Parts: sequence; C-alpha cells; structure tokens
Amino acid sequence: MNDVSDRKNRPDLDAYWMPFTANRQFKADPRLLVAAKGMYYRTEDGREVIDGASGLWCVNAGHGREEIKAAILKQLDEMDYAPSFQMGHPKAFELAARHAALLPGDLNHAFYCNSGSEAVDSALKIALAYHRANGQGTRTRFIGRERGYHGVGFGGISVGGMVNNRKWFGAMLPGVDHLPHTHLASNAFSKGQPEHGAELADALEGIVGLHDASNIAAVIVEPCAGSTGYLPPPKGYLQRLRQICDKHGILLIFDEVITGFGRLGASFAAEKFGVIPDLMTVAKGISNATVPMGGVFVRKPVYEGLMQGPESALELFHGYTYSAHPLACAAASAVLDIYRDEQLFERSAELSPYWEQGIHSLKGLPNVVDIRNLGLAGGIDLAPSGPVGTRGFAAFTKAFELGLMIRQSGDAIAMSPPLVIEKAQIDEIIDITGRTIKAIA
Ligand SMILES: Cc1ncc(COP(=O)(O)O)c(C=O)c1O
Repeated sequence: MNDVSDRKNRPDLDAYWMPFTANRQFKADPRLLVAAKGMYYRTEDGREVIDGASGLWCVNAGHGREEIKAAILKQLDEMDYAPSFQMGHPKAFELAARHAALLPGDLNHAFYCNSGSEAVDSALKIALAYHRANGQGTRTRFIGRERGYHGVGFGGISVGGMVNNRKWFGAMLPGVDHLPHTHLASNAFSKGQPEHGAELADALEGIVGLHDASNIAAVIVEPCAGSTGYLPPPKGYLQRLRQICDKHGILLIFDEVITGFGRLGASFAAEKFGVIPDLMTVAKGISNATVPMGGVFVRKPVYEGLMQGPESALELFHGYTYSAHPLACAAASAVLDIYRDEQLFERSAELSPYWEQGIHSLKGLPNVVDIRNLGLAGGIDLAPSGPVGTRGFAAFTKAFELGLMIRQSGDAIAMSPPLVIEKAQIDEIIDITGRTIKAIA
C-alpha cells in the first residue's frame, strides 16, 4: 500500500457533488479513503479499515489485484479504445465466449455496457424489442418488485421499488406494476433462504389478470435483493415466478448485479437456485470494479429472435460508446482468471456457513430485530431510533470509526466482504459490528 497523505493534504471538498451522499454532513466530517489492498482500505489519516462491503458489493476478488492491473496496462499499451458500433476488437468476443461458458443453461450471448443501471435499461429495451420483432408488440408493460433496486436510470427506478429513489422523479416509465416484496416478519432470523413466502410470486397471476399477458413484456427481480438490506428469496419463490412467466410468455429478467460472480457461493444466482432467467443483468464483480463495466446476458432464443431482417440491417438500435471497452474487457478477463484459479465461487460457498454462524451470533444485541444471510453476505435490521435511517447511519459511521466499512439502507446494515476473506477477518468484521451495535444503542 502506498504511503498515505494526512489531513493537511486534504483537497477543497466543495465542488464535487457526491452521489447518494449527505454532502453537507460528509464535507463537515469527511471519510476519505486513499489506498486499498486485499481486504483493507487505508484512510487519509492512516487508519486501516476492513472492507465488509466489497466497496459497493463489487470488489469480489479483493483490492489491488496485480493480475488485473497488468492486464489493463498491457491493453492500454496495445490499444486504448476501439469504436463499439460496426467495429470490434478480439477481447470483446473472447470475453463473451468465456462468459457464455460460465453461464448456466442457454444464456449464451452477452451485450456489454458500463454499469448496472445501463445493464437494466438495456435489458428492458431488449425485452421490448424482442417481443416486437416476434409479432407481439403489445407486450410493453414491465413488472418489478417492491424494495427492488435496479440502478438509477429512468427504466431502473421505474421497475425499482425504493420510494426515495422514485418519489423525486416524476412519472417515470408508464405501464409498470410491482410485485410485493418478500421481507416477512414471520421469517425473522432465518438462516439462508427463508421458509415462508413462495406464494408471494402468485401476485404475478393477479397482475396478469388485470392487464392480460399479451400486454406484459417482462418481470424483473433481484434473485436476492441487495440494496434494501439483503433479502434472500423464500424457498420456492423464484421457481414459482419462472413457472408463471413461462405459462404466460413473459420474459424473466434476473438482476444479478450483486448476486453475480460468486456472491452466493455459485457463479450466479441462476446457477445456485437452478432457475434460468431469459435475461440477466450484471456489473460490479464482472471487472472487480477496476474499470466500469456492465452487461446483459441473454438466452439463445432471445438473441436469435432479434436476428431478423436483411443481414446488413442493425438488429438492435441500442449501444454505448464504451460498450465492451478494451480496458474493461481486459480487466474482466483477468478477473475471470482469478475467480477460476483461486476458486473464489467455491471459496464463497465454503465460507458461508462460518459467515452465517458469525452474523447470527449478533442476535440478542440491543435493537437487533432481524438478521439474514445467504452466501457471503448478510443484512441486519436495527430498530429505528427516530426518522428512518438515523440508527442505520449511526451504525455506518460508528463502524467506520472502529475500522469497518459496511453498507447502510434505512435502519438496516448490509455486509458483503470480498470472497478472498479469511476466517480471522470474518471474526474481525463480526467483532466490530457487535461493538458498533452496542456503542450506538
Ligand atoms: C441489483 C442492482 N442493480 C443495478 C444496480 C446499479 O448498478 P450501478 O450503480 O453500476 O449503475 C445495482 C447497484 O447497486 C444493484 O445492486
């Protein structure tokens, strides 16, 4: 890790408008990170902070990976950029073939973009275009889920189900309904997938009854909801959703921006649960967050359904200047090598019982009203102490002060450490979390 600057070197903080941040609070009491290696960040005042959140659920292979750095530098030497429309470069095709080989079922085509939000908007557009190309252009409605997070594009906030991400931004996409969320009080303190709630998927039948399937393009859900405090799917829920979508010719989209690339102890949630969506959105762990990248993986019939018309015609009027950026492709390929060589998906599965035991050991601490886990991640609900988010924010800042980075959503905290974590580091995370919860009681 590089030597770090101290507070004397702090830049003027005024001009940068920080995303999803209480800007005024932050600028009055900043939390500045200046270096990262393995499981740890270093703060501007030289403190080590263990990364209990993989950055933002994205640094699955740990920080400062030399192999990824070498691949990016090599690519930069060879070719910095290639146009993505009507031109290609070999690394994009190689990467897509590698992703296809890793993906379950016939999810074997990849469309690349630069973030999870772009991936979601791309997936929604592909779903619409697919139906139109196949003579079902009336299928334009989307169904999301309460408490879902699908990024911040207009498509993503429309199908998403987090009120603060929606209420400021007008009418959004027309024609969107939401399934009920799956966070049931009867499942409190479940270990792994909760028992109750598979029947919540049946709400889809109700929505079909209201609009008719001929008007519905796709259902989008996170197989395990991340951003609202980590909500593993009830047993049988995703299977039921798949069956109902099949029955009505509705495309099923899994947003695997968080669950993809090993988080659940399998390559993807689709593999873990044995449920193959028609489209899958990814980002984050795809490049270990070194170079921004996202993607939509689609099943063969979806891709082939759009390969129509004259051969010289564009099949999909959609794409980004930086789709399959050479640096992102080089990084993503190096990350796949690490996942394979270090068997990080298997490691995530092996460590998850230890993680489960650790996180559930916090039951009984003051204000802990629920604990959930699946794979190498988990969520803890804290009883509110005032306006929503007051206690959650107190937990976030206290944990940081004690040397741990976690995520906060309202009064829930979520943790998702890099998959390279050691058992002693799991102990460290659980210990600091416990001390944090007691300190803010
Ligand atoms: C499930 C899910 N979808 C989409 C996104 C949006 O990704 P990005 O922030 O890269 O746009 C996120 C980000 O956390 C996510 O968790």
